[in-house]
Amino acid sequence: MRTNTIHPSSTLRLTSKRRNSIILEFLKEWIRQMNLIVIGTQWGDEGKGKIVDLLSEGADYVVRYQGGHNAGHTIVIGEKKIVLHLIPTGLLQPGKAGVIGNGVVIDPKALLEEIAVLSSEGISVTGRLFISEAAHLIMPYHQRIDLESEKTKGPRKIGTTGRGIGPAYADKMARTGIRVCDLYDPDLFREKLKTNLIEVNLILEQVYHAAGFDVEKIFQEYLTYAEKIKPYITDTARLLNTAIDNGKHLLFEGAQGTHLDVDHGTYPFVTSSNSAAGGACTGTGVGPTRMNEVLGVAKAYTTRVGSGPFPSELKGEMEETLRKKGSEFGATTGRPRRCGWFDVLQVRHTVRINHMTSLAVTKLDVLDGFPEISICVGYQVNGQILDEMPTDLKSLEQATPVLKHFSGWSESTNGVTSYEKLPHNARIYLEALSQLVGCRIDIVSTSSKRGETIVLRTPFPTH
Ligand code: IMP
Repeated sequence: MRTNTIHPSSTLRLTSKRRNSIILEFLKEWIRQMNLIVIGTQWGDEGKGKIVDLLSEGADYVVRYQGGHNAGHTIVIGEKKIVLHLIPTGLLQPGKAGVIGNGVVIDPKALLEEIAVLSSEGISVTGRLFISEAAHLIMPYHQRIDLESEKTKGPRKIGTTGRGIGPAYADKMARTGIRVCDLYDPDLFREKLKTNLIEVNLILEQVYHAAGFDVEKIFQEYLTYAEKIKPYITDTARLLNTAIDNGKHLLFEGAQGTHLDVDHGTYPFVTSSNSAAGGACTGTGVGPTRMNEVLGVAKAYTTRVGSGPFPSELKGEMEETLRKKGSEFGATTGRPRRCGWFDVLQVRHTVRINHMTSLAVTKLDVLDGFPEISICVGYQVNGQILDEMPTDLKSLEQATPVLKHFSGWSESTNGVTSYEKLPHNARIYLEALSQLVGCRIDIVSTSSKRGETIVLRTPFPTH
């Protein structure tokens, strides 16, 4: 019996002209649309700031999607070094817009301080900075809880940046968070604050034996901030989707690294947000089918700040040398970074879970002059050799690295801008990294300066 139901195979009955026109439309849309997510492949501090700054030349909007002012993105322009914590790096390029998405947690005091620093450098964000009204706020009590909670953990402390990031995200998930939009409804804001402080003050005073907070004081302080940040507040999901509809190019700037991601990292020694590429969708309201490429940034070796397992970590003189040559001190807290060899298992995992389309390798020049360079290609755990990163903390903590050795190079790679000019052994090293992690290298950075970069393929268009 015939019915009026459209059979799925009816699409097959499209005329070839109609089919071609659909394909053409799709391709046109695909070519017009170029949205790139830049992520860290290790434990943060991979040098994303420089790479994002470089690529943002081709972007209309640079968008932060997670984290807060725990991040530290360092950019060197001429002789000047600028460290951004919360404001998207792209704002350093004239004419670009920067967006702080709903997935970011915002300390308004820190934000205003950063705006003031930029202003003193002659960089105005007026009309170029957009902040999500749905983003959650970091409140003064979040920072105090962060610090007190770390104290009680003793040797098992996470080594947080102490910025209140974890407690702010915890409130978001517990549905007690205060969002940017709440600031503009003073009665609701006061009510939420009052309710939260009942529990917060009990915890601070009775569990941590620390001072509690006064509702009115925070209320007045945050109303002042609200007034100052008002010009930047908007529905950023709508802004970004409209921008894509109009053929604009978006660059999503990840903070921290995939192995600090709360779901995919070395839990619990992680941050409290999704720093992996998936976070770019939830943290901005731009859907996955609108994303085109994922570029992962990896240091030519590995560093980590804070506690947690680090199988390829070096100790002693070698670590000191790497730290000194690479200036490996935290951009946010100034803490010395732990240093070790490049870990293939770690970055291969990152390539997989982000479905990375290419890799940017940074700080190659730091390895100049080492007679031998090693990379970690396996973990030995309880007499067994693993070629994948284990999920459980105990195995990771017990892992000792299986190393593969490469001859180093004596020539300087500092400032080299063409791949062919790299020493032979440096090229062998890079090609081995690319092959072992299973991802093409698009960019190699040979110094902290903007122009001193090898671009093999641009993963992002230039206007
Ligand atoms: P939190 O993000 O302050 O809660 O810190 C949690 C962990 O993430 C700690 O080990 C921090 O050192 C680390 N972390 C947070 N932000 C960054 C970053 O931007 N770079 C490197 N490590 C970070």
